[in-house]
Amino acid sequence: MTPSVRPLVAGNWKMNGLKNALGEIVAIRQGIETGAACKTQVAVCPPLTLLCSAAERLEGSGIALGGQDCHSEAFGPFTGSVSAEMIKDAGASFVIVGHSERRTAYSETNAIVKAKAEAAVRAGLIAIVCVGETGNEREAGEEIAVVSAQVRGSLADSATSENTIVAYEPLWAIGSGMTPTPSDIAAMHASIRTLLKEICNQAGATMRILYGGSVKPENVKDLLGLLNVDGALVGGASLKAADFLAVVRAFG
Ligand code: PGA
Repeated sequence: MTPSVRPLVAGNWKMNGLKNALGEIVAIRQGIETGAACKTQVAVCPPLTLLCSAAERLEGSGIALGGQDCHSEAFGPFTGSVSAEMIKDAGASFVIVGHSERRTAYSETNAIVKAKAEAAVRAGLIAIVCVGETGNEREAGEEIAVVSAQVRGSLADSATSENTIVAYEPLWAIGSGMTPTPSDIAAMHASIRTLLKEICNQAGATMRILYGGSVKPENVKDLLGLLNVDGALVGGASLKAADFLAVVRAFG
C-alpha cells in the first residue's frame, strides 16, 4: 500500500449479469453495511444495461459504480457506443479504459486509450487505466518496457491522483488462475510508481495503482503489505458477493 492512500477494490463484471444479478449488488451493499467499518473504497462495474438499476440499489451506500469502457467523444453519430458523460449520467463515478480485452479484441492502441482517459476526466469520472504485458513479453524480459510504454501513452494529459488510477493486469494472469509472484508484482508497481512521479510530478506519488489478474479470496493475502499495491481490480471473483466482499475485507 502507498502511505496515506485509500485502497480501492473494483469489481469488473465484464459481459456478465442479467437483471437477476442485481441481487449480488444488494448483497454487496448488505455485506458492507452490516460488517465492521471498512476503509477500502468499493466500486462495481456491471454491464451498462444494469448501471441505472444498480445506482438505485446503491443510493446512499457509498459503494461506487463504474463503466467498463467509454467512447472518446461526448455525443454524436457513433452507433452502439456510449460516452463517458452518459456513464456518469447513469450514476457511475469510475470508468475502466484500456482493459486488455479491449486492447486485444478491439485493437485499442495507447492513443485510443488515452483519448478515452481524457474523456473520462472531461466527464468528471475517475479513469481506471489498464496496462499489462502478455506471457510472451514477460518470458522475453520485456514486461517493464511494455508496461512503461503503455503508462506513458495511455494516461490523460491532465491525470491527477484524484481523476486517474492505474491497474496493472498481466494478460496471462487474467482469468487463468495464475498470478505473478508477490515480488514480481511489487517490482512492476515500483516501476509504475517511479514513472508516475516522472509523468505526473507530485500527483504521481499518490496515484493509486491496482493489481488485477485472478485475484480471489484465496490469494488476496499475497497482495497485502506490498508497497505501491493500492487495491485490486477483480474480474471473476467479483461476480459473487461473498467472494468480492472477502477481497474487499482483506484490504481492511
Ligand atoms: P480476473 O479478471 O480477476 O477474472 O482474472 C480481472 C480483469 O480482467 O479485470
